[in-house]
Amino acid sequence: MAVVKISEYLKSNHIYHGDARVLLKKIEPETVALSLWSPPYFVGKDYEKELTFDDWKHLLHETIALHYEILKPGGFLAINIADILCFKDESMPKIMAENVSRRKIDLTRAQILKVKDKNPDWNRYKLAEYFGCSEQTIDRRLHGNNIRGGKYQAQTRVFIVGGLIERMALDAGLYAYDRRIWVKDAAWESSRWHTISYRAVDEFEYLYVFWKPGVTKVDRSRLTKQEWINWGSRGIWEIPSVRSNADHESKFPIELPRRAIKLFTDSEDIVLDCFIGSGTTALAAISEGRRYIGIDKEKRSVEISRAAVASYHEYAKEPQQMELMVQEIEAKYEAKTET
Ligand SMILES: C[S@@+](CC[C@H](N)C(=O)[O-])C[C@H]1O[C@@H](n2cnc3c(N)ncnc32)[C@H](O)[C@@H]1O
Repeated sequence: MAVVKISEYLKSNHIYHGDARVLLKKIEPETVALSLWSPPYFVGKDYEKELTFDDWKHLLHETIALHYEILKPGGFLAINIADILCFKDESMPKIMAENVSRRKIDLTRAQILKVKDKNPDWNRYKLAEYFGCSEQTIDRRLHGNNIRGGKYQAQTRVFIVGGLIERMALDAGLYAYDRRIWVKDAAWESSRWHTISYRAVDEFEYLYVFWKPGVTKVDRSRLTKQEWINWGSRGIWEIPSVRSNADHESKFPIELPRRAIKLFTDSEDIVLDCFIGSGTTALAAISEGRRYIGIDKEKRSVEISRAAVASYHEYAKEPQQMELMVQEIEAKYEAKTET
């Protein structure tokens, strides 16, 4: 690790602009109780479009490797990530599925145009859902082409990320401690292949938790009895996806980092998120009385996060408002678990 002067260490309760792989080297060794982040998933989002698959793997590998130094002994790295559900694999045999139900579809261009006339904003996925066929059928009827390029295009498969992440963590000296499944809202719209295969829709992600060897204080009083029952001891966390993600396209719900922060840290501990996005982890840390360090390579994300934190601190000027905000977060969760 490069030698960093003490005065140059990143300060807690700040959001920094820069590459995680550069800035993690500036965090004071053995000070982070929990590092919790959700990296690019290699699914073509704006902030990752320049990454090749190898670049993506290097990004994860380097970032994980840099954690050993900065985590407190007995501390944790929690990674929220999903499998890649539509991974193009050139090496896969190009064999098109025989879609029996599709062959039976007796659908004409005129029928589609009639429905489209009544619903001009419907795209080919919505039309496919309506007619119970694939979007290729819609496209073929409307334009006479095959949008997938048939058997000449690379096949797609599911890429399972868990093994890759575990190997990277082991290389870094971190051990798999736990894994939870976050059940989010089912993404019917973006799981369009489910109509032409046996695959499930996209509706869960993982939280992989890695441990840095050292004494871990197990303090059961961090959660109430009810919280242990509701989620502390549970492997599956049902948390609705963020309703409005206009400020950042891949926000996770605040309840996700909030739970991990409550479980794995004490008051005033430092929580790090080196892919801070819209600042969710920082907000969760503040709401639980922890310190945070945020990092993001996109200026826009840094600005959004700083603004989110600042508005939270605005509440802090009026403690009652702050309490209301935290209560609101809790009430949403309670409402969910009672149903
Ligand atoms: C999945 S999003 C995180 C969203 C965040 N959890 C939230 O709730 O808003 C990933 C973030 O990582 C950032 N990012 C991508 N590559 C990065 C890198 N090399 N260093 C730091 N940030 C990076 C992106 O700009 C993006 O904001």
